[in-house]
Amino acid sequence: MSDSDKIRETNNRKGVNLPLLIVSIVIVGLTTGIATMKVLDTRIERKIEKVKITKDQLREFISKVDRMVAKYTVRTDEDGLPIVHPPAGSEVYILAKNYDFGKFTLELEKGKTYQLKLAAKELKHAIVVHELKLQNRIKVGEIKTIEFVPAKAGTFRVVCGEWCGVGHPSMAGKIIVTE
Ligand code: CUA
Repeated sequence: MSDSDKIRETNNRKGVNLPLLIVSIVIVGLTTGIATMKVLDTRIERKIEKVKITKDQLREFISKVDRMVAKYTVRTDEDGLPIVHPPAGSEVYILAKNYDFGKFTLELEKGKTYQLKLAAKELKHAIVVHELKLQNRIKVGEIKTIEFVPAKAGTFRVVCGEWCGVGHPSMAGKIIVTE
């Protein structure tokens, strides 16, 4: 085999792999594109507002969480945590802190609209409920309001989606959605 033959053979091999490479790139590209569109879709569906708050307003927010828990606790769960069932259409206050979303379990009704009010106490966190496509960052110094309609009934895990320190892996709770 002459040198030029060898070169031709090498080129041929590259030529055979090229279509495969292109197909792979297209598949990866499409998958990523669809995934991104899905994420954007869920963002677009929900109305989200952010308002800057002072430390005093944060204190006020925390007392609203406490008042909500006191007023709408309907029973306790197997861990002894209060189950809080705010009325459909109401404002629901969630404070993300090191390291929980409040020591209660939220109970909402499927298909009803709630105004989720989110605030963080010391650090940035994120509230994530995969099954309900809820995934939002919660930053210190602001209240984020999300128009939220739980689309599925069941009991779902609420986890933190932002690294927030040693307690991050255990920063979890649950949410119940009734039919
Ligand atoms: Cu809170 Cu991670």
